[in-house]
Order: sequence, then structure tokens, then C-alpha cells
Amino acid sequence: MDRSRIENAVFYQIYPQSFYDSNGDGIGDLNGITEKLDYIADLGCTGIWINPCFESPFYDAGYDVADYRKVAPRYGTNEDLENLFREAHKRGILVLLDLVPGHTSYQHPWFRESSKAEKNEYTDRYAWTDSVWNSPEGYGCIRGFSERDGACVTNFFTHQPALNYGFAERKENWQQGTEDPGPVATRNEIIDIMRFWLGKGCDGFRVDMAGSLVKNDPGQRETIKLWQKIHGEIRKEYPDCLTVSEWGEPDKALKAGFSMDFLLHFGPSHYNDLFRCEHPYFMGEGDAKAFVERYQESREKEKDGLICIPSGNHDMDRLARHIHGENLKLAFAFLLSMPGIPYIYYGDEIGMRHVEGLASKEGGYGRTGARTPMQWNKEKNKGFSAADKTYLPVDTGADAPDVAGLEGIENSLPEEVRRLIRVRKAHPALRAGGEIEWIREDGVLMYLRRAEGEKILIAINPGKEAAEIETDVELGEAVYAFGGAGAVGRTVKLPPVSFVLVSVK
Ligand code: GLC
Ligand code: CA
Repeated sequence: MDRSRIENAVFYQIYPQSFYDSNGDGIGDLNGITEKLDYIADLGCTGIWINPCFESPFYDAGYDVADYRKVAPRYGTNEDLENLFREAHKRGILVLLDLVPGHTSYQHPWFRESSKAEKNEYTDRYAWTDSVWNSPEGYGCIRGFSERDGACVTNFFTHQPALNYGFAERKENWQQGTEDPGPVATRNEIIDIMRFWLGKGCDGFRVDMAGSLVKNDPGQRETIKLWQKIHGEIRKEYPDCLTVSEWGEPDKALKAGFSMDFLLHFGPSHYNDLFRCEHPYFMGEGDAKAFVERYQESREKEKDGLICIPSGNHDMDRLARHIHGENLKLAFAFLLSMPGIPYIYYGDEIGMRHVEGLASKEGGYGRTGARTPMQWNKEKNKGFSAADKTYLPVDTGADAPDVAGLEGIENSLPEEVRRLIRVRKAHPALRAGGEIEWIREDGVLMYLRRAEGEKILIAINPGKEAAEIETDVELGEAVYAFGGAGAVGRTVKLPPVSFVLVSVK
């Protein structure tokens, strides 16, 4: 893959039902995204990832696909999606779709066929036990609905039957090997779905639960091989196909052929220490030691790998639920000066709040408050939709931020984000592949980025006390400063809640 395509990229994640409703039915849609591409380009983003937009009963917001090759009518048509690809490309924006290869909706026609007693093409498309009385050990299952005598392994919610990629360690007769006909057919189908959308002009995929396809797979060795095969096939025809995995183990994901891997908010990353816990580091509390240690470990295992740190996503609390006021700018200074590719969750750039007290929508549960409509202006439904009733309630609080209200305001969050993106793009040291060396991670976070002979020191002080820090390098000009921070000689001066990016001589 040609890495130069994304060396300078900043992605923007769009939850399609909540971004912009172009036809006034209360729900966001693809044409709505197309209409807002200029906004995304103007922010400086060069790619978007759209959450699943395919036919679905929406018990898990579309992560329960019922037809991988058809856009859900509520979002528009396949033609609308192709038009979105073209319009995005005109603006230099790459488009990633969300691929859910691990499971389908229980309403997918494959699952209906697979549930039948007589053998057919889809009998082995899912992982079934050999008797309804025999539940799969270590996995959830659906049982008692099918004509077929068996229980079907599930992945996330129990309405999401697991597609069959085989079992690495086969402990029961019904568990198939990864090269048995059923698993091979599943793999080929996924390759074909990827081809289908790449052929229509998408640039690649964010891949849901990418590390969990082969079952009973210690160390994910077989899942890695599976992805190597998929990537190998796809890149014969589409060498530039981009993939970003929800895996959270970059050394494995990159070995599997993914172009990028997400750092996750669950598992061992300590991501939440920085952004989402009782005392988040970017609020000036606690320290970033555990995070830095884990991050460094990952980088050492896979030096060239692109680890993507998101500002948020549809599965976690809004950033602004835990980080407030000017400290939000510090969080962005960090996100936009780290190696890898930054991902901005729609609305985080204006500090959209987590909407409290909402009933669960489409399997959102605790995640629902982070999925509310984008706030564009102060008009009806904050400019999201002309409808009287919207998909989820809009945050209508008088002090809820909106795009129009913050535009052009010198020190507003979106203006800082825009500037930080510009600075990132202008400096090779700050781009995806530039190196990183950690200097301190206690009260003040300090690290050095380096590439092509350029060196930039980043110092962030989220705390309530001013700091003056002597470094062992000769500092040059500040390339960006906020909150009165600056550098003279070898010393960095940081008032409370400030940061500076300074070139090193
Ligand atoms: C991923 C998605 C999440 C979904 C789950 C099941 O974690 O991000 O939203 O519910 O997978 O597909
Ligand atoms: Ca609509």
C-alpha cells in the first residue's frame, strides 16, 4: 500500500443517522453528508468513516446488517452513496465504509436459510452446534428459534449470529477448520462485498471487531492469517484499499495487513486515563504514565504501524462529558500532534455534550448520549433537520455549542482544531509516520516528534499550576502556542492550562 496517501490524513467519523437530514424525515442521510462535505474539508479533514449505512433492522444501529450490498432506504440509495464517493474525492476526502464481517442480523436471508433443517448453500455460513441442547462453550448463542437442530454462536448482542470462519482449536465435532468449505465460502463472500464497494468508488473500510473472527484462537494466529488472505486478495485488484481495524493490538492488526489500528477505550490501553475517568489526565488530574508505557510497548512491537487515537466514537461517552472548557483544546493538541492518524468524532470539534438521561435507541444503551444530532446552528433542531421529531433528541440547551455560533470566533474550539490540523499538515515531524520520544508524563506531558530532519517538542500543561521546565535541547520558534505558553533557550514556560509546539534547533 502506498502510505503517502494517508501520511497527512485526519479522519472524521460520521454517525449517519445524526449528521444531517437532507429531506426532513428526522433522520440523517447520505445526501446530508454530501451537503456537508465542504464543512469537513474546511475543518482540514481528509477522510471520513461512516458507521454502517446498510439495510438492517437497526437493533444495533446498523451493526446488524441484513444486506451488505444495499444502502438502508432511510439513508438513501446505492446511487446516493456513489455520488457521495465522487463528491468527497473532488474535495480530496477519502471515504471508509464500516464493514461488519463477524456477524449479521438474525434477519439476514443467509441466517434464514442457515436455520432450515435441510442442507443448503448457507448451512455452514454461521457457526452452529450439532444439537439445540448443546450450547457453544465460551460463546453466547441463539437457540430454540430454528427448524434446524442446533444452537448458533453469537458475537455481541444475541440477535447477531456469528459468521463461520472456523475454529483454530477444534474441541467439538461441529467446530469446523478455517479451510473447511463453510469458512472458505464465508471468507470469499466478505472479499466479494469489499470488492463490490471498492468497485463503486469507496477507499476502504473500518472493520468492526476485526480480531474476533476465528473462534478458539489463542493469540489470534488464525484470525491474522485470515486477514492476510483477505488483504492479499483485495490488494491484487485494489492495492490502495485502506483498512482500519477495531482490534486494539496494533502489532497483530498490522501483521494481518490492516493499514491502521484503533487504540481502544476498553482493554489494556489506558486511553481512558487521559480522557474518560473520574480524574482524567487532560483535566489536570492523575498522570499519563500507564498510558505512555502501553503506547510505547505497542510501538516497539510494530514500529511503522499507524496507531489511531480517536477523540471519541459512537461507543463511548462524549469527550466533553469528562473534559471541560479550555482543557478540551489541550486534548486536541495531543490528538493532533501524535503519530498515527487522528480520528475526530463528529461534533467533538465543537465540544458537543453527552446528552444525559436518554432512553436507549437502537441498541445504544449507555452509548446513546454520544449519538445525538449534530448541532449546526440555532435554528429548528439546531439546523439538523426540518422535521418535528428527530431520530434522537437534539441538545437544545441554550448553551449547547453549534457550528455557526463558533465559526470565525478567534479562540473557539473549532478554530483551534482547524489551526492544529493546519500545523500538523505543514510539519513533517507531526505527520503519521514521524517518530516520537517521550520526555515526561507527570503533571506536564512532553514529547519530541521527529521526521525528515525536523524536530518539534510538544509540551502540554493541563494542571492548575504554572510550570517552568528546563529541557536538554536548544529550542527555536514556537510553531503553535496556546494559553500563554512559550519557550526561551532551553526552557519551556507553561501557565496553567496551556500548550506549546516548538521547533528544536
Ligand atoms: C463494535 C461497534 C459497536 C457494535 C459492536 C457489535 O464494537 O463499534 O457499535 O455494537 O461492534 O457489532
Ligand atoms: Ca433524512
